[in-house]
Amino acid sequence: MPIRELQTKPYNDQKSGTAGLRKKVAVFQQPHYLENFLQSVFDVETSLRGKTLIIGGDGRYYNREAIYTAIAMAAANGVAKVVVGQGGLLSTPAASHLIRLRQAGGGFLFTASHNPAGPDGDFGIKFNVAGGGQAPEGLTTRIYEHSKTIQRYRVAEGMNLDLDRRGVQKLEEMEIEVVDCVEDYAALMQSLFDFDRIRDWFRKGGTLRFDAMHAVTGPYAQRILVEQLGAPGSALMNACPLEDFGGGHPDPNLIYARHLVELVNGAGAPDLAAASDGDGDRNMILGRGIFISPGDSLAMLAAHLDKLPGYRGGLKGLARSMPTCRAVDQVAKALRVECHETPTGWKFFANLFDAGRLTLCGEESFGTSSSHTREKDGLWAVLAWLNVLAHTGLSVRQIAQEHWRRFGRHYFARHDYEGLSAAAAASVMQALAEACPQLPGKRYGEWSVTQADEFGYRDPVDGSLAVGQGLSVVFGDAARIVLRQSGTGTEGATLRLYLERCEKLETALDWDANTALAPLAQIAERIVRIGELTGRKAPNLIT
Ligand code: G1P
Ligand code: ZN
Repeated sequence: MPIRELQTKPYNDQKSGTAGLRKKVAVFQQPHYLENFLQSVFDVETSLRGKTLIIGGDGRYYNREAIYTAIAMAAANGVAKVVVGQGGLLSTPAASHLIRLRQAGGGFLFTASHNPAGPDGDFGIKFNVAGGGQAPEGLTTRIYEHSKTIQRYRVAEGMNLDLDRRGVQKLEEMEIEVVDCVEDYAALMQSLFDFDRIRDWFRKGGTLRFDAMHAVTGPYAQRILVEQLGAPGSALMNACPLEDFGGGHPDPNLIYARHLVELVNGAGAPDLAAASDGDGDRNMILGRGIFISPGDSLAMLAAHLDKLPGYRGGLKGLARSMPTCRAVDQVAKALRVECHETPTGWKFFANLFDAGRLTLCGEESFGTSSSHTREKDGLWAVLAWLNVLAHTGLSVRQIAQEHWRRFGRHYFARHDYEGLSAAAAASVMQALAEACPQLPGKRYGEWSVTQADEFGYRDPVDGSLAVGQGLSVVFGDAARIVLRQSGTGTEGATLRLYLERCEKLETALDWDANTALAPLAQIAERIVRIGELTGRKAPNLIT
């Protein structure tokens, strides 16, 4: 089988954002577009030569084509072995785990996460490094710079590979192992959680609804929740992965998983309802009559985690991304463990995990995970909650109320302003940045500004600095407003405004988030002036 070197021209737009390179499918279908990016990775990350490479994706439209291309290029670029999920499927956390388990040199994850799929939808690629984490900022910048000068790429031609047949196949010098996408991941989950106890919980009548949203977690949920833990088949919704995700938007939040909110508020609500996103790294948690915000879920799991088998040794540290509400900080204080505040994006947690300074972390964008992998992990969070329910015998609502009584309650909402022009988004960011120095000491309603500035992060492990990571206006422990620009959108610019308010009064515990946050939203408009500067009357999306 010949290895060919083919001519190409740079595209100049292959910069990875918060979660890899994400573009419309049509962009990826341009001649050599995907090849350019892959070759840039092979050229820059020369350590992949002679190593194992993990490949998989969330099953969306173009997944298979992209995977065939990646394998043919891996063979032509000196990779020793490719391990690929059967049918091209691997959830993001399972791929990260496989990189670690096989001590691979890295992995390609084909996903645009929760973004809609299909010929008119989005496609994406993430490069994860040895150790399982997302490529760090310095590396993605080097790959981007290289992609702007690329003139040729290498590919093995005439490849004859069956992606659906498990086992080892040979391609030139390279070995390809097609693996069951669930097996290793399920074994990992079994090592962390008390499966007997969870099985018992189901046997005694505990009820679950899990929505895989026609995306990659379907086969994982079927094997683990149904076959291994004994949940009835009817506990799963939309468990069959589809190339277009059934036309849906597999982003489990209050908008795109509204049906789960209705389910838990209706007759016959399950004890636990949950969902995951396109590539299986996000999670949404609800109990009978209650939605648990991601920031709360993180804090509540932190308070209970050391009761679960994989974490009995105690927690080494906790972390959250900057815009995530500060509920977990209170738990860290009580447990006397370090608590880190990182920029948005999962990659910033990796160094802390590797240095043994972190056990559990999360983001407000429905991401939670632990040191077991280097990505956020949707099913992990569902299993953790199941295990906490089975261990404590409490309901989700009881766990939440007990938590709020002890630590105070953090109300949180994110307001997204999508499809703005780059100039409009920049003008809002700039206006707030300029206003920040004058804000401390100013009083708004019942709150006074204690701090207002731009967030920068010095990695405590490698000392690297990430600047320009969003602006925050802090009102002590009582409230906070955060503004940043999204790094994952594929159309126009998106501004995200995050509102957080903490109440310790018992009477405030049962407000709904909208009521609790309404006064802060008004203050935010006075300070941040999104409406005034962009003409937008309201956000497109509140989650
Ligand atoms: C969004 C989320 C962020 C998450 C990322 C990838 O990024 O806000 O927390 O890590 O998706 O799932 P953003 O579009 O805000 O840059
Ligand atoms: Zn995702």
